[in-house]
Amino acid sequence: MSFIRYKNNNLFVENVSVKRLASKFNTPFYLYSESCIIENYRSFLNNFKKSNPLICFSVKANSNIQILKILRKMGSGADVVSGGELLKALKSGIKPSKIVFSGVGKTEEEIKLAIKKNILLINVESENEAILINKVAGQLKKKSNIGIRLNPDINAPTHKKISTGKAEDKFGLSKTNLISFCINTKKLKNLKLNAISVHIGSQILSENPFKKTLKVLEEIINKTKINFKFVDLGGGFGITYKKNDKKINLKNYSNLVEKFKKRYNCNIIFEPGRAIVGSSAILVTKVQYLKKGSNKTFAILNAGMNDFMRTALYDAVHNIIPISKNNKKNKGPIEFVGPICETTCKFIKYNKYQNLNQSDYVAIADVGAYGASLSSNYNTKPLIAEIIINKSKARVIRKKQNIKSLLNQ
Ligand code: LLP
Repeated sequence: MSFIRYKNNNLFVENVSVKRLASKFNTPFYLYSESCIIENYRSFLNNFKKSNPLICFSVKANSNIQILKILRKMGSGADVVSGGELLKALKSGIKPSKIVFSGVGKTEEEIKLAIKKNILLINVESENEAILINKVAGQLKKKSNIGIRLNPDINAPTHKKISTGKAEDKFGLSKTNLISFCINTKKLKNLKLNAISVHIGSQILSENPFKKTLKVLEEIINKTKINFKFVDLGGGFGITYKKNDKKINLKNYSNLVEKFKKRYNCNIIFEPGRAIVGSSAILVTKVQYLKKGSNKTFAILNAGMNDFMRTALYDAVHNIIPISKNNKKNKGPIEFVGPICETTCKFIKYNKYQNLNQSDYVAIADVGAYGASLSSNYNTKPLIAEIIINKSKARVIRKKQNIKSLLNQ
């Protein structure tokens, strides 16, 4: 069910007209559907129901505390990659026993915090990190629960800048290094090796690389004969941004995960980010100016790459849809661009589009994941507001940043 759709040619998020909101609040702003987040969470869990996994929502995809609270109420844990994300997850009420901490460069301070808070797992990415965790745990007179991240050397078909599971990528340990790590950590007396973890990339639309990864994990578990209490299978499940994107079918993989769980008698963890929040939001923005180019019209929006980075960073395709549909056609191609002084501050070009006027509102689609969380103050622009809809109610979950807070830094 789509919670963001047209009714009589006007765009609605749940029961709220986007046009009405756009005239009430200053554009640009992120606009979420709470029901969509809940539905995505349920459907993800449902896919893997038989393995009864712990879902640790990947906070980097969206770190708004109100969204974390919604997910916490659904039973979600958190996958965090910094002390800040850890503190935010805890503040949202997510229990430490449902938090995993990944990342290749955790600082001593972050490690200390994670150990003090007794989180479920610190997913270790190198031997030297393990040595530091062992030292810090000793100073705190504690044992630290760790997972070890595998780099399975699997090429997942996705954008090269968001692939993480190949040998050349900085993440995790290779098969051979991981096996010797398992032997060496026995000497590190303040560590408890509770898990093996893996994450091969993001926006993956085929289940094959996930299946291959499972095979590598089996190989390692068979070789090391370690009875890992948890197997953390990461995130990476793609969503359909483009018309031609094929929806990922996880049926087969889900059956394999179930068998795997039974065979190795372990608890399964997943760390989805995009699959939970990606489709739940639009970015509502205004056509500030129309400008004639030599062979196209530029629609200059009041939202830019500072507000939404994915296109500039990864050439990601995000459709831009009108808030009100009309039946007239625009003359010639139209390119939606932003105001930032960079050539890459542009979103998408259409050869055909409906008639567009200055001050019309449009919406950038599917921006719930890595949208607000990747935004910045570039060009000394304040962070924009975030609003969430629940049925007929709109709630501001982040106020537009006050420009004054930027002036003294
Ligand atoms: N677990 C780990 C260890 C990760 O590094 C990531 C994402 C996830 C889970 C969640 O992945 P997801 O389910 O959302 O695909 N900014 C990029 C995506 C970067 C992903 C980084 N790691 C983008 O906008 O496409």
